[in-house]
Amino acid sequence: MQSFIEKMPKAELHVHIEGTLEPELSFALAKKNNVQLNYETPEALISAYDFNDLPSFLAIYYAGMNVLIEEDDFYQLTYAYLSKARSQETLYTEIFFDPQAHTIRGVSFDTIITGIHKAQVDAEKNLGIKSQLIMCFLRDMSAESAMEHLVLAKPYLNWLIGVGLDSDERDNPPSKFYQVFAQAKKLGLKLTMHCDVNQNNTLVHIKQCINEVQVDRIDHGVNSLESEELCELIKSHKLGLTVCPVSNQFVVQSLTSNEIHQMLDKDMLVTINSDDPAYFRAYLNENLIKLQQEGSFTAEQMVTMVANSFKVSWLAEEIKDNYL
Ligand code: ADE
Ligand code: ZN
Repeated sequence: MQSFIEKMPKAELHVHIEGTLEPELSFALAKKNNVQLNYETPEALISAYDFNDLPSFLAIYYAGMNVLIEEDDFYQLTYAYLSKARSQETLYTEIFFDPQAHTIRGVSFDTIITGIHKAQVDAEKNLGIKSQLIMCFLRDMSAESAMEHLVLAKPYLNWLIGVGLDSDERDNPPSKFYQVFAQAKKLGLKLTMHCDVNQNNTLVHIKQCINEVQVDRIDHGVNSLESEELCELIKSHKLGLTVCPVSNQFVVQSLTSNEIHQMLDKDMLVTINSDDPAYFRAYLNENLIKLQQEGSFTAEQMVTMVANSFKVSWLAEEIKDNYL
């Protein structure tokens, strides 16, 4: 089964590019950019990855970004992820990036997005992995800041497929960003939002996402299973759910294999993803393998989940058919 999973052509729809920053690259960039890291070796840095909920993870995730300064840093980060993904038979990926986490440190929007974009172009040409970019807003920053970044993105709309919402969900509901997302939709961008596992008011947030924001997909969304009404709503809108088992294990101490079984039984469009693979020490294959082992999923169920990723992707319909 492990080799079957490894060889399957796959897609990934929920991966934060900053969450793919491997300690070795982090050390190389820190040296180049004269940034002080508080650890002697990459191994020491990894052993400091001590998180057991979303806020404790986010603190380490944002601190790690300080080494990303020049366009080429964003290029290297993105190219390294795309190479790793391609080595795991991932043929298509939709990548999140968090511009506010960099502009707040004085890095320009152009530097960030140009570095990422050039790596996407080169990786498609050299490695045969296709990718599209999703700009995420940090929900613990203001709606005004999000809107400012949407304005900054306007000259680069051809490089973006959609917008998302991530970071700390507590007290930061989807409704805070209605106007920003309405504007993004008008600009022709797809919409998705994180509804992380077991955050405050997750069910209310999922409902707002669907009924008010009218998202095209939901990131995580596992708690929808607590409400039959929400499950039906998700199904009737044919919304994909981008679930991240190993990330869930860190944040809520469960791979959520039972919940993923329930989603499959209900014919919900569940997909499997890595979220922040350098921090959670698991890329897409490791997520799929750990999940399969814990939940004894059949090969057919694994194929369904991988096919779902292509189905609910934001690839043009005529291109999707080439993968399915
Ligand atoms: N940013 C990066 N990873 C995240 C996650 N799992 N949840 C919310 N925001 C994030
Ligand atoms: Zn995420």
